[in-house]
Amino acid sequence: MRPGPLTAAAVAGELDAARRRSLAYTDLTDDDLLRQHSPLMSPLVWDLAHVGNYEEIWLLRALTEARELHAGLDDIYDAFRHKRATRTSLPLLGPAEARGYLRDVRARVLDVLAALEPDLLLPRPGAEAGARTGAGAGAGAEPVPRNRLLADSFVYGMVIQHEHQHDETMLATLQLRTGPPVLADPADTDGPHADGPGGEGPDGATAGISARAAGDAGEVLVPAGEFTMGTSTEPWAYDNERPAHTVHLPAFHIGRFPVTNRAQMEFIADGGYDDERLWSADGWAWRCAEHLSAPLFWSRDGDVWTRQRFGRVEPVPPDEPVQHVCWYEAEAHARWAGRRLPTEAEWEKACAHDPVTGRSRRYPWGDTDPTSELANLGHGRARPTPVGSRPAGASPCGAEQMIGDVWEWTASGFTPYPGFASFPYREYSEVFYPQGGESARYRVLRGGSWATHSSAVRSTFRNWDFPIRRQIFAGFRLARDAGPS
Ligand SMILES: [Fe+2]
Repeated sequence: MRPGPLTAAAVAGELDAARRRSLAYTDLTDDDLLRQHSPLMSPLVWDLAHVGNYEEIWLLRALTEARELHAGLDDIYDAFRHKRATRTSLPLLGPAEARGYLRDVRARVLDVLAALEPDLLLPRPGAEAGARTGAGAGAGAEPVPRNRLLADSFVYGMVIQHEHQHDETMLATLQLRTGPPVLADPADTDGPHADGPGGEGPDGATAGISARAAGDAGEVLVPAGEFTMGTSTEPWAYDNERPAHTVHLPAFHIGRFPVTNRAQMEFIADGGYDDERLWSADGWAWRCAEHLSAPLFWSRDGDVWTRQRFGRVEPVPPDEPVQHVCWYEAEAHARWAGRRLPTEAEWEKACAHDPVTGRSRRYPWGDTDPTSELANLGHGRARPTPVGSRPAGASPCGAEQMIGDVWEWTASGFTPYPGFASFPYREYSEVFYPQGGESARYRVLRGGSWATHSSAVRSTFRNWDFPIRRQIFAGFRLARDAGPS
């Protein structure tokens, strides 16, 4: 599925695909849905009803004169009013009520969609040229112009991406869950994942790709020069990806692949977690407070490292990109390796810049839709793929697996691009930027993970989180200045 203007039938199909995924991840006992599996995460039943409430706000009330369906839900399911750790104490809809609410909202949304003039979903000429409205937040805020929301099917794309983003969050919750496995492992069943929750289609092509021996130290050169960062034309890009702007970077080297589990084992074996010199002051304080000694979910069984993955224990595969490391661990590893983390500008240039045309690509391989041969996305399998297994997805500079597998921590804080304007609500991006002269609280991650749906990632997509977070499906890639070697 290509993000951008869609027919009403295609919109309905994408909404349905996202919903099937949400329902698959919440096909659990009521106890599993209502329990707080981790203070870092919401109870799963909150995520479930939240995606319905978001859909009600944006696809019913923002597009029509509809009033709220149930008083009080906007407050309960407002992600900014209640911290995740407190959400079990809210008067949440129960599992059956939540599913009924989702069905009710969706039926009304499809009625609205069917009544729309088809042209409203199509590209709006000059949509990027006009000044942004600075429109306000969701419920109860200043209305956002309906035509602007509908152009390029933007508001539908926003809701589809949002649900898939919560589906990835639900996967993180399921990974933190203890007890017998509840999630089928696509790679452990029929190999190719034909029609699973991610809806990404067959993954059979990967069976023919043998992982190449990939030296972890392999790196590629990105020559000095300008490139276009961000976008003003990507139809479903969020406000934080806009506008496109020119950035000049000196030459640098960047890892051809993300850092592997093997390299992380070497970092551990070399005492990396115990060497204060490798860590920033904040990172060392966190490492000591939390007694960090390996990636989250890893254990040592004699001489063998094992990991817990969705309730199953297995040896750590050396050639997979490492995941479940926080930004501080990534920073320490980079210093140990004599490297550093790439800035997000470096990451995006290595991912997207085509030196032949001078333009930036939607994806590393070009503008065509992701396939399982190009990138490991959409829960085609429940883990990263070994480095070297997606050569067809290489970027113009030769970097591989930049999209999919693991989110990649960058050195950069989450800050607005020059000319940023909120759209369509401040709480998506703006409230996470540094406020009142403070330094950035969040670090930027790029590229999506194996759990990310293809509609919710592209070369310009920016994710962000606190530097201590490890439950997300995040790893990293190394970089260095291209000085005299
Ligand atoms: Fe949300």
